[in-house]
Amino acid sequence: MTLHLNADRLLAELHHLAHLTDCPPTEDKSLPKPTQAVTRIVFTPRDLAARAWLKSLATNAGFSVREDAAGNTFLRWEGTDPKLGIVGTGSHTDAIPHAGMYDGTVGVLGGLEALRGLKESGFQPRRSLEVLMFTSEEPTRFGIGCIGSRLLGGAFDPDSADKIRDRLHEIDPNAPEGLTLREVREAAGFHGPLARVKLPANYFAAWIELHIEQGPLLERDNIQLGIVTNIAAPASYRFTVEGFGGHAGALLMPDRRDALCAAADLILSVERHALTANARAKAAGHSGVDTVATVGMVAVHPGAVNSVPSRVQLTLDIRDTDVARRNAVMAALHADIETIQRQRNVHITEDLINADSPALSDPHILATLESVCKSEGASYRRMVARAYHDTSFIAPIAPVAMLFIPCRNGVSHRPDEYSTPEAIALGVHVLALTLAKLSAE
Ligand code: HGY
Ligand code: MN
Ligand code: MN
Repeated sequence: MTLHLNADRLLAELHHLAHLTDCPPTEDKSLPKPTQAVTRIVFTPRDLAARAWLKSLATNAGFSVREDAAGNTFLRWEGTDPKLGIVGTGSHTDAIPHAGMYDGTVGVLGGLEALRGLKESGFQPRRSLEVLMFTSEEPTRFGIGCIGSRLLGGAFDPDSADKIRDRLHEIDPNAPEGLTLREVREAAGFHGPLARVKLPANYFAAWIELHIEQGPLLERDNIQLGIVTNIAAPASYRFTVEGFGGHAGALLMPDRRDALCAAADLILSVERHALTANARAKAAGHSGVDTVATVGMVAVHPGAVNSVPSRVQLTLDIRDTDVARRNAVMAALHADIETIQRQRNVHITEDLINADSPALSDPHILATLESVCKSEGASYRRMVARAYHDTSFIAPIAPVAMLFIPCRNGVSHRPDEYSTPEAIALGVHVLALTLAKLSAE
């Protein structure tokens, strides 16, 4: 079979999807085809429009469409032996505020193009092939990422999931407050018990997610593709610092219990212990870059220029390829929190949002990807995925791997996120041939 992909069709669809966005157009004039800033938050009208459009593409291509109670969307090309485990690919189309147009979408529309290209090239799969669009990969709306894939892989208790709170009003003050995931998903048209979302064992015989690298390594080393051996393990926490506020003029320094100064100590402790973990790892001969920790959101109360902060809420996102090392950073942070509470006479509470395990790729799928890269003359390197991905939560129920394409300057989650048409086409080409091989096994 000679594979014919329609790269122009795929590029046009990526740009069409990018215009289904809730942020003002951002034309990056430095590019031949300007990129588009994207905000597309799960279950908003924009997201639903994108879903409807994606389903129309799939049905026009002759594939069947199924949606589960969480809104995970399955585009299926039935194989000659439909009883066998499915070979799956896919990613997400939701986007954090003011993000780029390639994160996730390359895996969904690229996966669809891989199947259309195989079909139009005369290929007939033995194992059915499915493109999966996961619901709510980003944590923006419900505070935790990968809700759809966690439910599919059984990593999220369905009843607890349905009760998590909608946080959209933190971004859009006009959004209703206090809704639950169940109320939001049902208003979006996704009914039925979440308990039915979990996939049966061996549903997928193999799974590959195509995604932009969201880092600089491939571009820096001028390598065309990244074959992902493992996905770093994310954990996230919410901290509340309770101090004692008051008048910025009248409350004298010795009498203060400033919640924001205490939060600042906590934030710098996070950075210090992450850097220490990397330095120790480097001294032990490891890469010395695998621990990352970020405080990305801080809410200060009352948030007035002339009022001493009485309460601060902040979120911690900490990731590592090694869970024990991540846990050691948290233990060091907890010791500092005890000291901060004692020295500043504040009270700090911690709420765990998620603490996940690293995902390992399947050796056979890695070898199949490598053999296709070699036969197609594509340069590649094995590498770690440092962003988390839905594949992390499919890993416990199926053999998985990921395929990365370079993105300009390693930039992602920004409007200037960009991958070249050539890189996207090559990624889809290698994905398609790998899916074809795996579906014939
Ligand atoms: O945060 C992440 O790693 C992913 O982009 N949601
Ligand atoms: Mn993302
Ligand atoms: Mn992503």
